[in-house]
Amino acid sequence: MQKNPIVPFILIFAFGIGLIFFLSIMGVEKKAEIAEGHEEGGAKTEETEGDASEFDPEVAQGKCIGCHGGDLGGGVGPALVGTSLSKEELTEIITNGKGSGMPGGLLPGQEEQMAEYILTLK
Ligand code: HEC
Repeated sequence: MQKNPIVPFILIFAFGIGLIFFLSIMGVEKKAEIAEGHEEGGAKTEETEGDASEFDPEVAQGKCIGCHGGDLGGGVGPALVGTSLSKEELTEIITNGKGSGMPGGLLPGQEEQMAEYILTLK
């Protein structure tokens, strides 16, 4: 019996479709994971991300640059580069916010590290 020459193509096609499904499902799961991690804001460090307790200035800044500008050089909020505030004052503001525009609690457990990081930007 001669094999139908179309069969390999159908197999490849089916495999491709399967792969697309697999990847999109993986992607959706990853997205949910990322969204979850954001909502919990690192409060749940043990299981979501092992490195959530590790301070990463790039990630931390990402929560500030929307208001404080790309290089924290000022935007809606004042410039953080070259601030005259002390580490204690910075920690307190990052923890509790300031005025009506500055939200607190953006970096749970990392306020002090962020304060230290801001001071290195001078
Ligand atoms: C929703 C916008 C917004 C976000 C997000 C935001 N800030 Fe602010 N921030 C402000 C505003 C507005 C002020 C000025 C508040 C005031 O003086 O009344 C401010 C003030 C500050 C101050 C005091 C600066 C000074 O000279 O008085 C610090 C420090 C600060 N923010 C740090 C941060 C850090 C660190 C982050 C990221 C974790 C952050 N902010 C995220 C809006 C924001």
